[in-house]
Amino acid sequence: MKIIMLGAPGAGKGTQAKMLAAKYDIPHISTGDIFRANIKNGTELGAKAKEYMDKGLLVPDELVVDLIMDRFQADDCKNGYILDGFPRTIPQAEALDKALAAVGESIDYAINVEVPDENIVNRMSGRRACVGCGATYHIKYSPTKVEGKCDTCGADLIIRDDDKPETVLNRLNVYHEQTQPLIDFYSAKGVMKEVDGTVDMNDVFDAIVAILGE
Ligand code: AP5
Ligand code: MG
Repeated sequence: MKIIMLGAPGAGKGTQAKMLAAKYDIPHISTGDIFRANIKNGTELGAKAKEYMDKGLLVPDELVVDLIMDRFQADDCKNGYILDGFPRTIPQAEALDKALAAVGESIDYAINVEVPDENIVNRMSGRRACVGCGATYHIKYSPTKVEGKCDTCGADLIIRDDDKPETVLNRLNVYHEQTQPLIDFYSAKGVMKEVDGTVDMNDVFDAIVAILGE
């Protein structure tokens, strides 16, 4: 099963993708996580990506497309994957389409997690991310057992550099301009599904599972 998670920054794509990856036993591929790992490891790609990410802008398509095409070659992708944060522009979606068509494949579902802009800044200011394993929490909606420490690996939690309110607003603008058009793109292909992302995260999950099947 090949699934794309769509939605504004902070809509809960990553939260749902992690839960879905565990349920369906397919990898969760987040371009944002891949860039953040590169930044942490001090790679050249990380340095390039950081320039854009810190401003709330998109990393140029060519950097993202090569990276993701490479990721698809890994063994764990043979039964499908959940894409989180890719594609994010029409050229990226076209590149993905072309690559899949070349091997006789296509996307099964694009799931749009709908959350209005008003809720987003509030969500982002409470998000905490684990420096060790990348797990995501929220100080109010998904708190850790011990404050500031990851439940899974015990490492410290941090606030993402791009979660400052002014950067979040930029990311929202970029989303509306460059990523929202993908909803029409995948609707035209007949694979677009919408879920309400404002309800409890477990209820969002149940709604997605109802679409994908048990
Ligand atoms: P990326 O990491 O993909 O960030 P994003 O799309 O802005 O999305 P987020 O990760 O911020 O939000 P999310 O939807 O995953 O929400 P989450 O589950 O964490 O990209 C970062 C940057 O990298 C981009 O700005 C760009 O520069 C670059 N980039 C990445 N991919 C790219 C591409 N393809 N092309 C070009 N550039 C690219 O949830 C948010 C918070 O809300 C959490 O605290 C969570 O606990 C909480 N929460 C989740 N669900 C609920 C719920 N139902 N109720 C209450 N709280 C909830
Ligand atoms: Mg995410």
